[in-house]
Amino acid sequence: PTGRDLFDGRENSKGWDLRHRPTMEAIDAARAPFAKHQWQGGPLTTATGESTAAETRVAPSDPSDTVGTVAWATPELSRAAAAAARPWSAPASERARVLNAAADLYEQHYGELFALLHREAGKTLLDAVAELREAVDFLRYYAGQANEDPARGTFACISPWNFPLAIFTGQIAAALAAGNAVLAKPAEQTPLIGYRAAQLLIEAGVPAEALHLLPGAGDVGAALTSCPDVAGVAFTGSTETAQIIHKSMAENLAPGAPLIAETGGLNAMIVDSTALPEQAVQAIIESAFQSSGQRCSALRCLYVQEDIMTGFLEMLTGAMDALVLGDPWQPATDAGPVIDAEAAGIITDHIEAARHDKRLLHSLPVPSDGHFVPPALIRVDSIADMQREIFGPVLHIASFKGRDLDKVIDAINATGYGLTFGLQTRIDDRVQHVTDRIHAGNIYVNRNQIGAIVGSQPFGGEGLSGTGPKAGGPHYLPRFRAHPAPEVTP
Ligand code: NAD
Ligand code: ALA
Repeated sequence: PTGRDLFDGRENSKGWDLRHRPTMEAIDAARAPFAKHQWQGGPLTTATGESTAAETRVAPSDPSDTVGTVAWATPELSRAAAAAARPWSAPASERARVLNAAADLYEQHYGELFALLHREAGKTLLDAVAELREAVDFLRYYAGQANEDPARGTFACISPWNFPLAIFTGQIAAALAAGNAVLAKPAEQTPLIGYRAAQLLIEAGVPAEALHLLPGAGDVGAALTSCPDVAGVAFTGSTETAQIIHKSMAENLAPGAPLIAETGGLNAMIVDSTALPEQAVQAIIESAFQSSGQRCSALRCLYVQEDIMTGFLEMLTGAMDALVLGDPWQPATDAGPVIDAEAAGIITDHIEAARHDKRLLHSLPVPSDGHFVPPALIRVDSIADMQREIFGPVLHIASFKGRDLDKVIDAINATGYGLTFGLQTRIDDRVQHVTDRIHAGNIYVNRNQIGAIVGSQPFGGEGLSGTGPKAGGPHYLPRFRAHPAPEVTP
């Protein structure tokens, strides 16, 4: 589905509140004032200290589109903010009320937030809608879990650019609902979305001394994760950065300070010869190419049983050809740009290496302006051929013989990652067999493998993909408390 499919024909007189779908006309009217808007961002903190001069931000889909300016926090200011931060001592009912009020404010500002997501992060309308919904869900879900158990103190919440509103908000909402203070560091690629979200949280009533926004790059994150005033870290990003943070915390923070890390994946899907091909192809297209593949959950390596490979490849490449690529503001667009020139370079080099080795099976033309890379299909013999996560619209495909199914499962497990996994089959016993053996946090059968829903599909991986507990699930928020409640199996 495209953004337009989501809204056409659904009349709504109440405006956007996430329970009533607005018409496309209402969405356009809400976004329009922000088509050329210039946002200004910077640190939001009660601490005093220097920030840098403001820098210009441009859109990944169109570098001539200036989105606004941001001043960066320095490591010194970040440490001062850690010293100034004060846990949120209000009763649980008040914390819950304020976080629900923030959810309302996010919903009321949907036009501006969609525009920011399109322009600063290159998100399509479909992705922007899902992202705002997820952010609001996190606020309401964790608000519902606030209680009087003691907080830990001050949490550093360090988030990635690929969910600059949802993950940014989810980490903060859990830490605040538990009564902590938060030092929030949005990714350096998306500081303006973080700034606007932090403003809305403070406008809703989060005390300024409990929420400090510190936009910056890795040096600001490193200052926070090495600061003894920090009682715990919630991090989402690459596995490599999580490993650096883990070491820094062990050297600098109080013993036992928790690290909640959600990291990358080498996610696979198995399609056997009994799978419904149309259903499988749609699930693959969404899993590999929605968000231009810039999801930790995205499908990276597809295994197709060799008996059906020829016809299946024809359907898959046909479906790729039908993707609409380009301006993320347009409702029909299925996939926009990747986040920046550096990401585009890494992904393009990977595709060109495959072309050179005659492993590139299919790719699509993309706009020449902006950071667009062609959605691509690359042949591999096994997932073992993939050295690392390529964070873009690149799908790798291998075939397998039916009798080798267990070898495929072993190869997927041997990567050491364990985030998402997909299975397409009509054999019930096989569902049981495969899901019993695969090591992955989120397993999806006969559907796509992206877009976990807060509260009903807790999301998180194992092994190199994360520490747990899963975000949007019952065990997450207790880790932000001084004495986590005993875990219960839902
Ligand atoms: P990244 O690791 O480069 O950066 C993530 C955050 O860490 C950024 O805010 C960055 O500034 C900060 N950072 C960088 N160096 C740091 C340091 N030394 N100390 C402290 N903080 C530091 O990741 P990214 O490129 O922003 O995001 C993409 C990655 O995130 C992918 O690997 C993706 O799979 C992963 N991801 C995982 C999940 C999940 O839920 N498992 C969700 C989204 C993204
Ligand atoms: N939670 C996001 C998804 O499921 C990353 O796609």
